Parts: sequence; C-alpha cells; structure tokens
Amino acid sequence: MSNPWTIQSGKICVLGSLNVDLTVTLERFHQPGETITGKDFHTFTGGKGGNQAVAAAKLGMDTLMIGCVGADDNGRMYKRVLGDLKVDTQAVEETDEAPTGVALIEVDEKGENRIAVVPGANALLTCDLVSRHQDKLMACDVCLMQLESPVESVNHAAALLRRAGKKVILDPAPARPLSDALLFLCDIVTPNETELEILTGMSGQTEEQAIEAAASLLKRGVGDVVLKRGAKGAIWVSRQGARVIPGFKVDVVDTTAAGDSFNAGLAAGLVMGFPMEDAVRLANAVGALSTTAAGAQAAMPSMERALELVEGA
Ligand code: RIB
Repeated sequence: MSNPWTIQSGKICVLGSLNVDLTVTLERFHQPGETITGKDFHTFTGGKGGNQAVAAAKLGMDTLMIGCVGADDNGRMYKRVLGDLKVDTQAVEETDEAPTGVALIEVDEKGENRIAVVPGANALLTCDLVSRHQDKLMACDVCLMQLESPVESVNHAAALLRRAGKKVILDPAPARPLSDALLFLCDIVTPNETELEILTGMSGQTEEQAIEAAASLLKRGVGDVVLKRGAKGAIWVSRQGARVIPGFKVDVVDTTAAGDSFNAGLAAGLVMGFPMEDAVRLANAVGALSTTAAGAQAAMPSMERALELVEGA
C-alpha cells in the first residue's frame, strides 16, 4: 500500500488538555447509589493532550505543548513534569480565571477505566491563545489534537496548519459529531470503535462495518482514518483500501491513556519517516506498553522499548 505523506523529520506539536488525574483502583465498577471500598488512590498527571505530549517526549521526539493550566499548584506541578521531560512549555499558559483541569478516574481489576473530566483551565485554550503561539505552532511538522479543548480552537489551529502545509492528526476523543469543514482539515483521524460510531452515526461492530464507517469519513474529506481497536490493534483505512494491523499482547494494569499513547506513537513513526503501516505498528506497540503500569503516563515507553516489541513480534 503506498503512503502519500511520509514526513522525513521534524517536531511534534500537541495542542490539548492538561489534567490532574485523581485515580482510584477498584475490584469492580460500582452501581448508581452504591458505595464501595477502593484499593488505592493516586494523583497522576494526565489529560489527553498532556498524555500525548509526554508519550511523544518519552519516545525521544522534539515536542511542543500548547495548552492552558490554572495559576495553581497543580498547574505549576504539571509544567515541571513536562519541563523535566524536555517538552517545550512556552505555549502552556497559566490563567487565574480557572483551576487546572481535573479528571476523576476509576480503574477496575481488568484495567478498564471510567473517567469524568472537569475542564477548568482547558476551556480557556481559546482561538486567541492559539494565535498568540502561531509562530511556535508553525515551526512544527505535525500537530496532534483531541477534543478536550474548545472545538473552535481545534478548528482554528487546523486551518492555520493546513494553510502552512503542516500535518494534522485529530484524536476525536471525547467523541462528538464534527463538521465536514473540520474533517476536511484533518490528514488523519484516529477514533476508537465507539468514537467512530458517534462521528458517523454508523455501526462499527464488525470489521466490515467499521471499515465502511471509516470510509464515510474519507468521503467527508478526512485524509486517512486509523481506527484504534485496543488489544486487537488498528485498521488503517485510506482511499487505496483498508489494512488490518494486529496489536500486541501485554499484561494490562491500567488502560488509561492507551489511545493517547497510540497517537503519539503514530506521529513519532511518521516524523521518523516510517511508511504509514509501520507507523501504525509502532503506535500499536506504544499504546500496548502504556497499559502495563498504573496511571496515564508511568508506562509510556522509550522508542527503543517500543521498537523491541515491534521487532520481537
Ligand atoms: O485519555 C486519558 C485521559 O482522559 C486521562 O488522563 C484524563 O485526564 C482524561 O483526559
């Protein structure tokens, strides 16, 4: 399968949310009205944007983060974490109008999660904030975005990037219907099966249905669709056809941020000049390895570790 858009080198920008995750591990999820005793409680850095930036940095990528935190302890702590990983935080603004975003996360024994997010300062990642950092955004080759930030800002950034010939990868999470105008600006969209159904209004239950639903996004202007399927791997759907790319078996502890890590792996692979199919294989490995420890970011792998898994398969 030919790959029309391999990027040869470059810097990754992540535009998105920065949350502090308040994570409880439980034997099982509780029912409405029921109180149960959890096993552990931890505070982690998270948020889909921050997770993608940390995963990219851990893979050794030159990474810029564009986001907004509160002028509070959580915000300062998050910027320190990013700085320690050499993520460029010059475009992470601090606001005193809202606190740093927070996510309440439950993780059950199988490593599955349930998440409730209070956006806080993430809601202030406005079009103006994006414009203030346009020069830094334009110095990047590929930009990863998600939907925990205002959609107008995602749209604004995508339009600037398209005009400059830069690549946009949109992780449509949390899912919501999107305009054709935004989809047209996306080189790659990376939904999971549930997100695909919400985006298209079509069932993605079987492989055939999922491919058909993904193809409907191509008709609406998306460049390529890479469907994330957790342990099953991914399906790359392009105008040339569909390719199933199997996942990797690992011991799962916590699936939080597996999708975020997948996106970082995909962007890293493309920036390193991998053909799309190999970049998706790398993304599968990065996503899988990220699930092997508690918390969103703890088990995100180095490039060496991810390639070991790919090559050992
Ligand atoms: O994708 C996982 C992330 O979703 C968590 O880190 C949480 O902050 C929510 O944004």
